[in-house]
This record gives sequence, C-alpha cells and structure tokens, in this order.
Amino acid sequence: MSDDLSSGNTPRHVAIIMDGNGRWARQRNLPRVDGHRKGVENVLRIVDAANKLGIEYLTLYAFSVENWQRPAAEVDALMHLLESFLGQYAAELVEKHIRLRVIGNLAALPEHARAPLEKAVATTADFPGPTLVLAINYGARTEVLDAVRAYAREVQAGRASPDTLGWESFSRYLYTRDMPDPDLIIRTSGETRLSNFLLLQSAYAEMYFSPVLWPDFDGACLADAVRAFANRERRFGKTGEQLREK
Ligand code: FPP
Repeated sequence: MSDDLSSGNTPRHVAIIMDGNGRWARQRNLPRVDGHRKGVENVLRIVDAANKLGIEYLTLYAFSVENWQRPAAEVDALMHLLESFLGQYAAELVEKHIRLRVIGNLAALPEHARAPLEKAVATTADFPGPTLVLAINYGARTEVLDAVRAYAREVQAGRASPDTLGWESFSRYLYTRDMPDPDLIIRTSGETRLSNFLLLQSAYAEMYFSPVLWPDFDGACLADAVRAFANRERRFGKTGEQLREK
C-alpha cells in the first residue's frame, strides 16, 4: 500500500454507482446480461479491495427504482444475478465477518431474490463491520417520501413535534439511519450524474468520476479514487484558512 493510503484520511464510507456493464458487453458483441454477470464478479473483487483499504462502509447501487423500466428480460436477469450472488457469496460474507445491509424497498422484489437477501442480512446483522450496503430498488426521492410519511405518522400520534425537528432527528427516518454519510461517491463509466442516489446523504461527499467501465474497475482503480479523496480539502462550509487555524 502506498504512503498516502496508509497515512490516514481514508474515507469511512464509499458509495459506488456501478455503471457501464452494458457498454462493456456491447464492446465485446455480448448480450447486456453478460456485462451484468461480469459486474457481479467485480463486486466480490471490490469488496475485498475496500476491506484491504480499511473502508468501513461500502455502498453499491445495484438496482434503482427507475431500473424497473428496463426490458423485462434484463430486470429478470438482474434479479437472478442477485440471487446467485447471494448463493455464491453469503457463506463468504459470514466467513469474512462482513455485515450485509440493504437500503431500498425490498417488498417489491421477487421472492427468489428477496428471501436470500433477507436471510444474509439477518445472519450477518451482529457483526461489528465492515459493512457492505446494497442499494436495491433504491431511489433517494422515494426514500425521502418514506421518511416524511413515517415522520408525519409520528407527529399524528403525538410522539414528535415539528417545532423540535432538526436534521439529526429527521435523518433517523432515512434508510441509512445509524450509518455515517458517504465521504466519497464514485461513478464509473464516464457518466457524471448522481441518478437519484443518496441525494441527502451526499451533501458533503466528495465526487469521483472514473472513465473505467464497472467490470474493469479493479482494486487499483479504487485505490486511485481513495488517493484522490485523501488529497481533497473538505471544508464543510468553512474557509480553507479556518481549517488550517485549528
Ligand atoms: C449499470 O450498467 C448497472 C446496473 C444498472 C446494474 C448494476 C448491477 C450489478 C453490477 C449487478 C448486481 C449487483 C449485485 C450486488 C448482485 P448499465 O447496464 O446501465 O451499463 P450501460 O450504461 O453501459 O448500459
């Protein structure tokens, strides 16, 4: 590991928009699903790389609420890939003491994908971390609406008051409750959008856009992103001078 990676300033929480599976397949004249299959293999590789770098939370955008609009065969293939990922990897998660969490609405998932996911989450729930967070059927706007609904019900029941609402208390209604905000958000494949991913939690996150397609985004690419993060100055609204005065 290089000096700047071992010198501290490692992001606690890295969140990745895994983009480019389709283009990876097209470049090889393969069906899109082959790109997704390769993308899943890469998940295993990046989880290991993240652990080696000391990243505590790794969140991966596996399926968005908008992804249901893809052709039915592709959605079906993604759901089966999720199932086979767990079939192949659930035991390894336990072996490596990796805690699995999910953000998103699992209720809408087909049973064959939901059941192994819920089982793996339950089996690993008591591990102290590192934590792999899969964003599945996730959308930030849906998350906000779910949070507002839950909060409004608490107000209706007389258990919460709008007068005392602050960010701390509201953030407890988000799917990411009890997780730190992402420090670094990576999107692969050259696209430079957030696509409804962790919009509130990324308020102070550093963004890193890599031209590399997700199936080719390896441990060295992740280390490059972490190194770039370590060289950024995060000011959280203050001036650079104020930070240096501390
Ligand atoms: C974006 O590539 C990728 C997705 C919409 C799905 C990401 C899913 C995986 C990597 C597999 C599922 C994950 C787990 C953890 C089992 P794209 O298809 O939009 O690529 P393109 O923009 O090149 O078409």
